[in-house]
Amino acid sequence: MKRSWNFEWFKTILQRNLTLNPFNDSNQTAWERRSKLYGTSLKGVLFKGAPDVVNEHFHDWHKKIVLEFVEGTGELRILDVGCGYGRLSIPIIEKVPNVDITGIDISENYVRLYKENTSHSAFVVGVEDLPPDFGTFDYILCVTVLMYLDDENLKKAVFNLLSHLKPKGKLILIEPHFSGYYFQTVFGLGTFLMKRIQKDIVDTQGRSFRSDKIEQLFHHAGGRVLCKWRLPMTSLFLGPLTLAGKLFPMGAVRPFCKFIFFLDALLGKLKLPSIQVAYLIAGDEKG
Ligand SMILES: C[S@@+](CC[C@H](N)C(=O)[O-])C[C@H]1O[C@@H](n2cnc3c(N)ncnc32)[C@H](O)[C@@H]1O
Repeated sequence: MKRSWNFEWFKTILQRNLTLNPFNDSNQTAWERRSKLYGTSLKGVLFKGAPDVVNEHFHDWHKKIVLEFVEGTGELRILDVGCGYGRLSIPIIEKVPNVDITGIDISENYVRLYKENTSHSAFVVGVEDLPPDFGTFDYILCVTVLMYLDDENLKKAVFNLLSHLKPKGKLILIEPHFSGYYFQTVFGLGTFLMKRIQKDIVDTQGRSFRSDKIEQLFHHAGGRVLCKWRLPMTSLFLGPLTLAGKLFPMGAVRPFCKFIFFLDALLGKLKLPSIQVAYLIAGDEKG
């Protein structure tokens, strides 16, 4: 029989190697293991395969976004969703010493580390299971957490995030974006190689969100995206930056990172491909 060359087989193979490993039901176990492996370190909560200088670069960007979005130094109530070891709560506490900040995470070990590192309370609970009487907050922080949820839990999580905001409260959300996916994986090559080379026991890879998926999800649940920040230059230079980070000492690569950081600050509002996008979201149409 003549084989039909419709390239479906090729697309399947390509897709299998390009997909950012969709949700699997060992999410909690994988995070518990990862938190124990890396403890209080950027590799635990950012890119585990990236050199330190790249993780430091992303950490600086996340910190800048969070500190810019959190306004006021009065008595603020903040919830850090998927808090990890407290990476982003710590600079908030430094900026607003009397802040009432709480963390939640599915990993018991991260909750323990969060309490140790911040001296604030934290609870083991998934964002999708947040109880209605958990209280309301001026700000909710949710950085690279929704990416690990399947569609059903994602809807529950979006509803919970919005319903736990005070009337004028804001959600600060950072998630991967598909527009930068090809840069992140060096056009699929990175994922392909990782799956074959890496004998890693921690598989916590999540998804990246396509075009306006986040906006649609939150709009549907009654929220509104007020503004967005992107990382176009970091995305473009991620390959060279990673290579440089592997080959050269941190001190030599840092000035390059600072330059890219500066360019991203200039270009971050433009609709350019970006491996992550930061969103400021209001809880209701009037927020
Ligand atoms: C990539 S790390 C980011 C941690 C922290 N937000 C940060 O940026 O430093 C993802 C975190 O989300 C937590 N997590 C994963 N699924 C979750 C869920 N359904 N509910 C709450 N936390 C979750 C993980 O345990 C992990 O601490």
